Amino acid sequence: MKEIRDPRVFQRQMEKLRRGGKTLGFVPTMGALHEGHLSLVRAAKKENDKTVVSIFVNPLQFGPKEDLKKYPRPIARDRALLRKAGVDYLFYPAPDKMYGENFVTTVDVGADLPPRKKGAAVFPLTGVLCGKSRPGHFRGVATVVTKLFHLAKPHRAYFGAKDYQQAAV
Ligand code: PAF
Repeated sequence: MKEIRDPRVFQRQMEKLRRGGKTLGFVPTMGALHEGHLSLVRAAKKENDKTVVSIFVNPLQFGPKEDLKKYPRPIARDRALLRKAGVDYLFYPAPDKMYGENFVTTVDVGADLPPRKKGAAVFPLTGVLCGKSRPGHFRGVATVVTKLFHLAKPHRAYFGAKDYQQAAV
């Protein structure tokens, strides 16, 4: 398993694989891996030439009252699990590499979009449930996933269904 920490190096490596005709299966995670993650890795391995996992505890999806510092980070154990599962690439960036000093752009998935036509229903995907109790959470998730997708440009991505609202977003 090759481990890459620098986003630019990661982007270049993924591009090289794609240009070489390889299909990429991507599993974004925040680490502290368990059987659910490993089942996504198995699916990615089955359906793609190369399996790529990211571990990034995304500060943007944590609220001010949620303890980012206390989020588990058992990186040595995670690495060993991924190696054993046959993952080809681990992308493990430092937070300051993903969000530069002047970072301002975020992705919002339509929590408060006005209806497109007068009277049409709006499905407030990120304005209900966790979107209500954890303001900004889905903005953080959608932003980091967009960034990761721009880096990896995978052919397929694999998300757990345990957090159903996140999967829908
Ligand atoms: O479900 C998670 O682990 C995270 O929300 C994700 C999708 C990796 C984005 O940080």
